[in-house]
Amino acid sequence: MFFHGTSRVNEKGHLEIGGVDVVDLAKEYGTPLYIYDVALIRARARAFKETFEKHGIKAQVAYASKAFSTVAMVQLAEEEGLSLDVVSGGELYTALKAGFPPERIHFHGNNKSREELEMALECGIGCIVVDNFYELRLLEEISRKQERTTAILIRVTPGIEAHTHDYILTGQEDSKFGFDLNNGQADEALTLALNSPSLHLLGVHCHIGSQIFETTGFILAAKKIFQKIAYWKEAYGFVPEVVNLGGGFGIRYTSEDTPLSASKYVENIIEEVKQQAAELGIAMPEIWIEPGRSLVGDAGTTIYSIGSRKEVPNVRHYVAVDGGMSDNIRPALYEARYEAVLANRVLDEKEEVVAIAGKCCESGDMLIWDLPLPKAEAGDYLAVFCTGAYGYSMANNYNRLPRPAVVFVENGEAQLVVRRETYEDLVRLDVPLRAKVNQ
Ligand code: LLP
Repeated sequence: MFFHGTSRVNEKGHLEIGGVDVVDLAKEYGTPLYIYDVALIRARARAFKETFEKHGIKAQVAYASKAFSTVAMVQLAEEEGLSLDVVSGGELYTALKAGFPPERIHFHGNNKSREELEMALECGIGCIVVDNFYELRLLEEISRKQERTTAILIRVTPGIEAHTHDYILTGQEDSKFGFDLNNGQADEALTLALNSPSLHLLGVHCHIGSQIFETTGFILAAKKIFQKIAYWKEAYGFVPEVVNLGGGFGIRYTSEDTPLSASKYVENIIEEVKQQAAELGIAMPEIWIEPGRSLVGDAGTTIYSIGSRKEVPNVRHYVAVDGGMSDNIRPALYEARYEAVLANRVLDEKEEVVAIAGKCCESGDMLIWDLPLPKAEAGDYLAVFCTGAYGYSMANNYNRLPRPAVVFVENGEAQLVVRRETYEDLVRLDVPLRAKVNQ
């Protein structure tokens, strides 16, 4: 068992995060409950930013808000001087509601709609990461109509396969994202952008995947991109101001995971880009990165109440919690693995290995298959670690389970930042049959 950030066991044997007893939080706000260790998020943000500063590199660290997009989280990113990556009108709206400076927002996505692009340009967005030819033409048209020059990056697909789960591979050739670097599409996109008076091409973007433990993939991607930059410089006299190498830095979900530190990822990337720029004899471009998971993943913990048990003799002991794939779909979707403890009895001796079942009506709704625990009973609290990224943001209302509340903790204080959905919230958008309304 390992603890992240400010997590520790207090004198009552309870899990404490940010100086707050998790059992007290569960009682006050109910379960399931997402708890975020704000100090850990700040520490990660600073580690990324300070490494660039230490090496005197101009950079933007853009929080990939898809990992956890809420008003309070965006405000925290703002406080820490991060930029922001959004991938939809909804994430952009959240950012603007939070008062995030639009000039530090980057807009991603493989199928941005006309409405989304118009909204982005009207708010004065910092940069659009253009993904395909359809978008390039649409953006050019909207920019012309709005009489603006839009700053863009073009997203390229370098043909790198990151060592990660298949579903979250994006840098490989057969991908729905970006312009292929090898088959001429990236060159065509570049010339279109360069020839458009309404677009200002800042540079290139690539993202090779997620939950990556080594820097080999980033280095290879940088090498491929710079090979291309050498050609672009030669053929079109184009030298990028910005090279964005995306996100994907891994975190430790279980003791088997071996991620690098934030500063190590950044240092290796800086070293490679520096060397490539020097070899080409071009000015060092700004380096942008887009960490999502590594900023918020291990800062998040989900607390559940334990309810029923089912013992299948000689096979498995199922222990059920009051949430499941509705608040954490990652085990069902990616076979993701997690560690957990009994939050109210952290130090009790582990007596059995149990399977943690969710409460959704689906056999695949399992959170952990093999968790050593003390004999857990109804009323105990289970704390599942590292649920801060793609937990709340992928939460759903399957079986009409209300989505949990979210609490931020820091320096002994808790703040509710997303309230728990109510049953009334669940039917809020439903429209009754006309016949019933008129009755
Ligand atoms: N930039 C781009 C262009 C991305 O597509 C992503 C993630 C990121 C940055 C942030 O990646 P991160 O640092 O969080 O790994 N739902 C999946 C992850 C999907 C990632 C999608 N793109 C999961 O739960 O593992």
